[in-house]
Amino acid sequence: MTATARPLLSVRDLSMTFRGKRGRAAPVRAVDGVSFDVAPGETLGLVGESGCGKSTTGRMIVRLLEPTAGTITYGGRDISRLGQRALKPLRRELQMVFQDPHSSLNPRRTVARIIADPLLARGGPAAQARERAAELMELVGLIPEHADRYPHEFSGGQAQRIGIARSLATGPRLIVADEPVSALDVSVRAQIVNLMERLQRELGLAYLFIAHDLSVVKRVCDRVAVMYLGRIVEVGAKERVYAAPAHPYTRALLSAVPLPDPVAERTRQRITLPGDPPSPAAPPPGCAFHPRCPKAREVCRTEAPLLRIATPGEAREVACHFPEAA
Ligand SMILES: Nc1ncnc2c1ncn2[C@@H]1O[C@H](COP(=O)(O)OP(=O)(O)OP(=O)(O)O)[C@@H](O)[C@H]1O
Ligand code: SF4
Ligand SMILES: [Mg+2]
Repeated sequence: MTATARPLLSVRDLSMTFRGKRGRAAPVRAVDGVSFDVAPGETLGLVGESGCGKSTTGRMIVRLLEPTAGTITYGGRDISRLGQRALKPLRRELQMVFQDPHSSLNPRRTVARIIADPLLARGGPAAQARERAAELMELVGLIPEHADRYPHEFSGGQAQRIGIARSLATGPRLIVADEPVSALDVSVRAQIVNLMERLQRELGLAYLFIAHDLSVVKRVCDRVAVMYLGRIVEVGAKERVYAAPAHPYTRALLSAVPLPDPVAERTRQRITLPGDPPSPAAPPPGCAFHPRCPKAREVCRTEAPLLRIATPGEAREVACHFPEAA
């Protein structure tokens, strides 16, 4: 996808602060000023440790959550604060696939009904919805005989196919896939990733692909955004970020990924970060990564680095006072 293509999705300074319970606990700044674009047909990977705000970001984009600040522009239109009624037609185009396929499928409905539901909700005729459900089942590799079965009769991989078929029912252009393969057996992850890639080619879908697993993200995404404590610390073309990470946190994350080549794997240098990620209820001042950063200096404790182009002429942005030379 060229950088000049008009983005399908533009997120600017997106923030989500969860109020502390009954006013006692400190508010949680789960997402704090996140900005990125997703072009039509592109996959942007979103990675980072548990609790850094990936799911909250995804849930705001599909407007399951209303952002506390910032804007979400979809297809040129600001959708950040649309009410439920105005959101209804948009829900067709913006869909979400969840981590745990079984818990995201209604256990009391048959597969055909689950997939047809989004169409029936739009007031479509039942026979047509059922026909479309059968087409979608075929598209995602489920056999027609399974139409009248219930979710618990399926393995995790098959259930995720049902979840994907449901997300496709209304003809979306952007799918937020929140850890879509993390809950699956390793042996079926590749099959679901292959399916998502094929669907992207055939249907021209754009994905925001949220994952812990950096090898999966490397495989599927065009660009990758790395989050730390509610902020994006590095974003750029996958090849560049994986080959020459510029942010110390990205370097540490990537150093933990096993290498396929056994020789390289034996000599791989792991960067172990001290401590756990701090709480988003009490983020450190300055660069939020400074208490764990091997490169931290005095300025890092007081001044928060802005996300900016690190290498002239390259569309990669890094939030660090002392980025690695590319
Ligand atoms: N509804 C909520 N109310 C209060 N705090 C919340 C809520 N949802 C999320 N949080 C907090 O916001 C922060 C970000 O959570 P989020 O689920 O977005 O992280 P994540 O990156 O998706 O993590 P994981 O990799 O574990 O899925 C966490 O500190 C979490 O505890
Ligand atoms: S700004 Fe400083 S503390 Fe933060 S990542 Fe860069 S070098 Fe490390
Ligand atoms: Mg999550």
